[in-house]
Amino acid sequence: MTLLNTFRQDDIKDRLAGKSVLVTGGTGSFGKQFVRTVLEMGTVSRLIVFSRDEQKHFDMMRDFNDQKYPAIRYFLGDVRDLERLQMAFRGVDIVIHAAAQKHVPLAEYNPTECLRTNVWGAENVVRAALDNGVEAVMALSTDKAVSPVNLYGASKLAAEKVFVAANNLSGQGKTRFGAVRYGNVVGSKGSVVPFFRSLIAQNADHLPITDARMTRFWITLQQGVNFVLSSLCRMRGGEIFIPKIPSMKMTELARTMAPDLPQKMVGIRPGEKLHEVMVNEEEARTTVELADRYVIHPMLSYWSEAESEGTPVPEGFRYASDTNDWWLSEPELLGMISQMEL
Ligand SMILES: NC(=O)c1ccc[n+]([C@@H]2O[C@H](COP(=O)([O-])OP(=O)(O)OC[C@H]3O[C@@H](n4cnc5c(N)ncnc54)[C@H](OP(=O)(O)O)[C@@H]3O)[C@@H](O)[C@H]2O)c1
Repeated sequence: MTLLNTFRQDDIKDRLAGKSVLVTGGTGSFGKQFVRTVLEMGTVSRLIVFSRDEQKHFDMMRDFNDQKYPAIRYFLGDVRDLERLQMAFRGVDIVIHAAAQKHVPLAEYNPTECLRTNVWGAENVVRAALDNGVEAVMALSTDKAVSPVNLYGASKLAAEKVFVAANNLSGQGKTRFGAVRYGNVVGSKGSVVPFFRSLIAQNADHLPITDARMTRFWITLQQGVNFVLSSLCRMRGGEIFIPKIPSMKMTELARTMAPDLPQKMVGIRPGEKLHEVMVNEEEARTTVELADRYVIHPMLSYWSEAESEGTPVPEGFRYASDTNDWWLSEPELLGMISQMEL
């Protein structure tokens, strides 16, 4: 079963019907695709785009005409600024937290900046959500958060913990928090596919590959958006949702994009792994498998296990990009690239 086939639009439309939804990082790659998808469904009462850079807001206002989409609102703000978040969350029912600092080398060089946005920003989102009686918060995380080897991954792991534990703070209150974790988004800003594309357009004489053995998980922006929405429908509090998605070797990706261009090995970069992991052996103890996803349950359950769906994964289970049983073919990768935002 593919990821896309499990997306039931009617369930999502019902879940969002009449709701006021806010997306932090709403002007980013994920945010824009999320906004387009939700507005096209047409059932939300308000959809608020929250992020800092006014130029990105201005550009988005031109792309998303408010005559066509009367539900859209724009709110400039920084997730580091609790007071601003408190204002933005007034009357909001659902928050999707996508704002992040996401570049591995920049996080290594500016560690406290990364922590301020990714970790303290997460805590601010939790506080503002609790104070405003938001009903559900879904945060975006990454495979780099699993057994992290760089600060970006470690900050996203810390953020996951902040969101999972926030269900304790909520207590009998109605706010529920969860997270989704996935791999490389084909074509997101600053990622490898647009990088290779620009090298090919500049008639480069080779494509740089860090290590011939390297593998990654791959997902499209639309699949990521659909996965966040379908996980929101299932979330009861404290879960981390992981989609079943395909892997590909970096050498295969480069060969598919430029069959005639030589590849040059440039060596693994600091903070990079050869392979990514989405569920490690320790997490496997509380992980269940469904047809299209894995779900890591919280150590402290906020709901009855009897309500739980899925089959526990075996002891020692590990979901990793090199041992994945689903590999992208060249036509599948080209299909994913053709869906990229241009
Ligand atoms: N791209 C991937 O391959 C990938 C894979 C797995 C998970 N993820 C996760 O998915 C999420 C979205 O990623 P993306 O690819 O859409 O990133 P992106 O294109 O870089 O967008 C990031 C967004 O966050 C906003 N932002 C950054 N710092 C902020 C702050 N302090 N306060 C408010 N807004 C802030 C940015 O706008 P301003 O700068 O204007 O504020 C922008 O709207 C992130 O949480 C990322 O960790 C991404």
